[in-house]
Amino acid sequence: MNYRANLWALKQAGAEAIIAVNAVGGIHTAMGTGHFCVPHQLIDYTSGREHTYFADDLEQVTHIDFSYPYSEPLRQQLIAALAAEGVGYSSQGVYACTQGPRLETVAEIARLERDGCDIVGMTGMPEAALARELALDYACLALVVNPAAGKSTAVITMAEIEQALHDGMGKVKSTLARVLRG
Ligand code: HPA
Repeated sequence: MNYRANLWALKQAGAEAIIAVNAVGGIHTAMGTGHFCVPHQLIDYTSGREHTYFADDLEQVTHIDFSYPYSEPLRQQLIAALAAEGVGYSSQGVYACTQGPRLETVAEIARLERDGCDIVGMTGMPEAALARELALDYACLALVVNPAAGKSTAVITMAEIEQALHDGMGKVKSTLARVLRG
């Protein structure tokens, strides 16, 4: 995924804010399939991705503040929209971004849980950091599409993920529409 090109194009097109929709695995017991989460924090476990716009100019590395990776005003808009939709959601959570494309082992998920992660996905980083580098407001609307590895007795299938995505997409769209209406 060319995160740098995607974010750059949005910036050039005049975007000021980005809501990322992410399918995730649920780690915390509250994060069952079909549940929504608007994470307030993340931990980046990815490696080897093009993760900055400042890599080419080693004379002038810019260190962005990333203490709070998501825009709080944008998060609050998403939370209000989810509340109005009447869906199950968590107004905070820690998003773990793993490298993929494979799913995690049971031990890896246990480690993420010890690290304090509530949900796990593969596409939230470096996107969130690149948005910050470009001064774009950024928030994540995460839909849980499977229990993370070891969080159910069954193995994870693409069929269950696709079914949960299919079932949840209507609510994703109506939530986004609500945010856009303001
Ligand atoms: N792990 C990582 N990424 C994911 C998962 C998962 O279990 N489900 C959907 N995206």
